[in-house]
Amino acid sequence: MTSILMVCLGNICRSPLAHGILESKLPSHQFYVDSAGTANYHVGDAPDHRSISVAKSHGIDISAQRGRQFQILDFDRFDYIYVMDQSNFENVVKLARNTDDIAKVKLILEVDDSINDKRVPDPYYGDLSDFEHVFSLLNNTCSILSTTLIDKTL
Ligand code: 4NP
Repeated sequence: MTSILMVCLGNICRSPLAHGILESKLPSHQFYVDSAGTANYHVGDAPDHRSISVAKSHGIDISAQRGRQFQILDFDRFDYIYVMDQSNFENVVKLARNTDDIAKVKLILEVDDSINDKRVPDPYYGDLSDFEHVFSLLNNTCSILSTTLIDKTL
């Protein structure tokens, strides 16, 4: 089983979308996908209603996800840790115990060479169009990522 963790700040807007989108593109018997936030603001909460609604409009149900905070043990539990922006990167790397931990952490948009700005913008204070933009960025990136991950496990 290959395991992938998506990480943002609150675990209610971006990483739940990344989690649901990647999960929808991978066979569940070979891949485990989860998400977490670096902050504890939304532990136990459902994703933001705008993330739920944008995902639903693209045929993905993320409503059963619940927020949780990233923990040091996640470095052991996951093979790959994808963060949404530089601030998430720094927050996760701060908790790393060694270079193996650090090597697992990547900005998710690094997998897409066609994108210059490697930040998945935080849509929390935005409107539905910002959530649509995040969905579209993550959908393209997760298509690339799923192909790479499937190739690696063949
Ligand atoms: P996320 O967005 O990191 O994409 O889940 C945020 C959600 C909540 C907050 C900040 C960002 N907050 O400050 O509560």
